[in-house]
Amino acid sequence: MTARVLSLPGDGIGPEVVASARRVLDAAAGKLGLELEWEEALIGGAAIDAEGTALSPETLSRARAADAVLLGAVGGPRWDDPSAPVRPEQGLLGLRKALGLYANLRHIAAHPALADASPLRPERVRGVDILFVRELTGGIYFGEPRVREPTRAVDTLVYTDVEVRRVARLAFTLARGRRRRVTSVDKANVLASSRLWRDVVVEVAREFPDVALEHQLVDSAAMRLVTHAASFDVIVTENMFGDILTDEAAVLPGSLGLCPSASIGDAKGGLYEPIHGSAPDIAGQDVANPIGTIGSAALLCRHSLGRDDVAALIEQAVSRALHAGARTRDLGGALGTAAMTEAVLEHL
Ligand code: IPM
Ligand code: MG
Repeated sequence: MTARVLSLPGDGIGPEVVASARRVLDAAAGKLGLELEWEEALIGGAAIDAEGTALSPETLSRARAADAVLLGAVGGPRWDDPSAPVRPEQGLLGLRKALGLYANLRHIAAHPALADASPLRPERVRGVDILFVRELTGGIYFGEPRVREPTRAVDTLVYTDVEVRRVARLAFTLARGRRRRVTSVDKANVLASSRLWRDVVVEVAREFPDVALEHQLVDSAAMRLVTHAASFDVIVTENMFGDILTDEAAVLPGSLGLCPSASIGDAKGGLYEPIHGSAPDIAGQDVANPIGTIGSAALLCRHSLGRDDVAALIEQAVSRALHAGARTRDLGGALGTAAMTEAVLEHL
């Protein structure tokens, strides 16, 4: 069977890191007899420039038809005009929503070879292995009404029990394959939506008596990520808290550029992207770290193609390259995007 993968490079460093991940994925697939058929389309600012919209109906239907989507990043100062009717981010948010990708998995783990790369003291980073399960299609990102007036603006944070239940179930299920501890992060002391969140998570926890549940308020969870991150196993949280906490947590392993993500739902298919953004300041200079996107390609094989073997081969090559000392600029090294890609290919 040939797997159909849609590549959406997007903006900024997106095209560079996606090209790198494609090379690694093709090489790994070739070694293990996985046939891939690549398609490519525009998203974000690049799509706005060429097609007038951040996500065209054609691109969306190709994403629906694909077995998986590999995405780079969207956005940049070029499209930042606050009065513009279309924004690059609408492409990514629209795609997540339309494909029903309600869970974003962001695994943050300390890499033994990179103990020196984190700005935090080694003892704060040692043993860190956190799986974030970020709710991705609800909350304040999507709530209506959304209003902008000259002197007043409204965003709406809505959650339904169904939205909380499905993502909570996934978090508990994934915890079973790990250390069996779930931390549900909310702001239940202030927000009604968080009180619903907490009630539903408690209900779901009863289906998983073998998994321990704790609740933590988002402000103190943010602090604990810097002071005692190794004490977390699975963190499940709503859309915006997850957005913020995962950028914070990405500092632990050493660089935002290292971290992959998988966005999945109940249907087949999924969206795979690094957790970093489009980094317009370094776009087109061959300095971006491709590891987050290469890791996302591995997750694509694991979660959407059922090819754990290809995923493991890629992850092992990355790990070996890092052990051998391969470092991009964000990790204090001198390798460019292409050279880092070569280093990974060498260890495949
Ligand atoms: C992310 C990004 C996106 C988000 C932006 C680009 C809309 O920050 O994937 O974390 O906020 O979800
Ligand atoms: Mg983010």
